[in-house]
Amino acid sequence: MDRYRQAPTTPRILNKIRTLANMKRLSSSVSSHPILLQLDPTSACNLGCPMCRRNKSSNLGNKLSLEDYRRILDQFPWLDFLLLIGIGEPLLNESLFDLLEYTGDADMRTMMATNATLMDESMVERLLGSSVGYLQLSFDGGTKETYEATKKGADFDQVIENITILMRKKREARSRMTVFLVTAVTGLNCREVPRLMSLANQMGVDIVVVTPDLCNPTIYPDYDCPKVPEEELLATLSEIRKLGKKMGITTYLSSPKPYGRFQTQGTTSCYWPWYGMYVTCEGDVTPCSEISDPKWLGPLALGNVFETPVEEIWNGSAYQEFRRRLASNDPVEFCSHCLWRKGMFVPQEHPVADDWPNRIIRRIVQI
Ligand SMILES: C[S@@+](CC[C@H](N)C(=O)[O-])C[C@H]1O[C@@H](n2cnc3c(N)ncnc32)[C@H](O)[C@@H]1O
Ligand code: SF4
Repeated sequence: MDRYRQAPTTPRILNKIRTLANMKRLSSSVSSHPILLQLDPTSACNLGCPMCRRNKSSNLGNKLSLEDYRRILDQFPWLDFLLLIGIGEPLLNESLFDLLEYTGDADMRTMMATNATLMDESMVERLLGSSVGYLQLSFDGGTKETYEATKKGADFDQVIENITILMRKKREARSRMTVFLVTAVTGLNCREVPRLMSLANQMGVDIVVVTPDLCNPTIYPDYDCPKVPEEELLATLSEIRKLGKKMGITTYLSSPKPYGRFQTQGTTSCYWPWYGMYVTCEGDVTPCSEISDPKWLGPLALGNVFETPVEEIWNGSAYQEFRRRLASNDPVEFCSHCLWRKGMFVPQEHPVADDWPNRIIRRIVQI
């Protein structure tokens, strides 16, 4: 079988250096190629989470075929990161393991997110044998009641059992896959996050990531989920940190206060349009997965990878205008509300980008 072909190592390193220069300068046109691709393997989902941007997206229910996956990936030879996360549930795509095999021996980090509802024993074995190096398990509550209200359609006890099986089989297989729980903190579940740490411990998960609620008022003008007061959030994060140390769980916690370039220079801490691309399973390009529907960009639609070559889109007039506005005090409306831009959700709070080269890079570009 044909495999995904990467650019040779030296040009890839030079491309990374050019990427950093563009991120630092916040230039509108870029001399580098995308080094991260976030691609949705499917827009179908078996749950109905109330805070998910999927509820406001069009084009639901599609699944990426191997042929289309190859057509997309072959246009991205410069990748360091491949994130298979979007608005759908990847395990619903029957071709998922063919896709994973196509990019399987590439020199990059492959990450996937799942709600863990469909992970039976045989699925767990296939996943552990696949090219997924980082597996994100979404888990948004510490009690059955809250979990089932935020992950509508999931069975709390079943998911706990699935994750416990995954972690047991991972230990037995001595798999090096990095597995972590991710919780988006809202006023509904904030008090339960410490309890979730105990659950993680019980399931054998040793990394927990706590993110802010990223619901964007541009698409959810009437979002009525209670907000967490900053004091309470800070106290909870501090408690989680302590619990993590006690239980031997590594924690990644987003700060509720802005920092990075947004705080020091009043401009964007979001690096997405200089670093990588989001591609829906229909081939539409947006700057990031927060904008999971190109319609939310209004007249600045960037293009579709099945119709226009990626490189043309990447330096096209719409992308350049999007970058120019993001670097100014007049970003598109969606970005003006976004916590990535404000430096309240940044990659040092994520296991996939947590190593010393990436930490140094973030210092240099101030994100
Ligand atoms: C949209 S889901 C898609 C992948 C998969 N179905 C899953 O549940 O992991 C990807 C991640 O986004 C998170 N998410 C959804 N809505 C969110 C929000 N408003 N704020 C922060 N994270 C959110 C989910 O909890 C999940 O971890
Ligand atoms: S500011 Fe937010 S919405 Fe805008 S590109 Fe960055 S991550 Fe996406």
